Amino acid sequence: MPDTAPTELTLRRPDDWHLHLRDGDMLRAVLPETARHFARAIVMPNLVPPVVTSTDAVAYRDRIRAALPEGSDFTPLMTLYLTEDTDPDDVERAHAEGIATAVKLYPAGATTNSASGVRDFDRVRRVLDRMAQIGMPLCIHGEVTDASVDIFDREAVFIDRMLKPIRKKNPDLRIVLEHVTTEDAVDYVRDTPKNLAATITTHHLIINRNHILAGGIRPHYYCLPVAKREKHRVALVQAAVSGDRRFFLGTDSAPHTDPRKLQECGCAGVFSAPNTMSCLAEVFEVAGKLNKLEAFTSLNGPAFYGLEPNAQTIRLIKGDPVTYPSHVPTEDGPVTVFDPGFPLHWRVA
Ligand code: DOR
Ligand code: ZN
Repeated sequence: MPDTAPTELTLRRPDDWHLHLRDGDMLRAVLPETARHFARAIVMPNLVPPVVTSTDAVAYRDRIRAALPEGSDFTPLMTLYLTEDTDPDDVERAHAEGIATAVKLYPAGATTNSASGVRDFDRVRRVLDRMAQIGMPLCIHGEVTDASVDIFDREAVFIDRMLKPIRKKNPDLRIVLEHVTTEDAVDYVRDTPKNLAATITTHHLIINRNHILAGGIRPHYYCLPVAKREKHRVALVQAAVSGDRRFFLGTDSAPHTDPRKLQECGCAGVFSAPNTMSCLAEVFEVAGKLNKLEAFTSLNGPAFYGLEPNAQTIRLIKGDPVTYPSHVPTEDGPVTVFDPGFPLHWRVA
């Protein structure tokens, strides 16, 4: 029998709907890794200090543009960091002038640099109402911060305690539940017909919590939300390869230098920008769903955000195991690249 498995794949150029680019030397070091394959990315605002106002977003966007490799046409899609003092008029201005694509909600204390996030959801009600009126999406880090809730339950509890009430009070608000890690989140998004989508990261399609903890602790797999049991990873893969328009790629590629990962209290974040497309092709191939990869990386995201898919294409080619650097150097030390734990055979031509 002839082997009919494809060895080449042409996709619309992908976008990353959740990315951390940082600033300064780190920005210059990691930006080329995304700009190489991706046309656009939703850029997270959790700098120190955070990107709160439209003025902050313009300045950060300019620093990103200045850090781009010569000739790159990569477009950063900016986000505003929602605080209890955010001004609805400034958000509307950022949206109207094309400065910001979305607003990011971090529950205060949920993750890296989230201290200025939201404690009392009633205090951001006016902003959320305005966003619903103007059709501007809200990206949510969906974990409760209640110390009494087990870290593996924080996403599922967030859906019940926070997301359902937000959606009930404001059903017209367009929401992206970011980096979903549980079957509970997948089911909730799937059961919601309107105004709700979810991003899924590359690493959560590949690792479960055993990868972090069994046989030794692996800090480079530690991120937030933390990876859950295998049944949840399987649910994420099913959602990603389903072609369902509500699920799309947000890598949450989140670089930290090795010294900051490998300390007594290590930072959360997986840096997957350099090899994400190779990892995803492998995941979709194993699932027998390579034909759905384009929907996940290149079509569903633009559809939710009301943007055209990219006109250009990229080509993935299957062959001998792909080599990629294990680290990206920065002035403050190396950043370790995500290790999927298996060989990758698909490379971007
Ligand atoms: O693992 C994570 N790292 N999760 C987040 O939510 C934030 C991110 C970061 O900024 O490092
Ligand atoms: Zn993130």
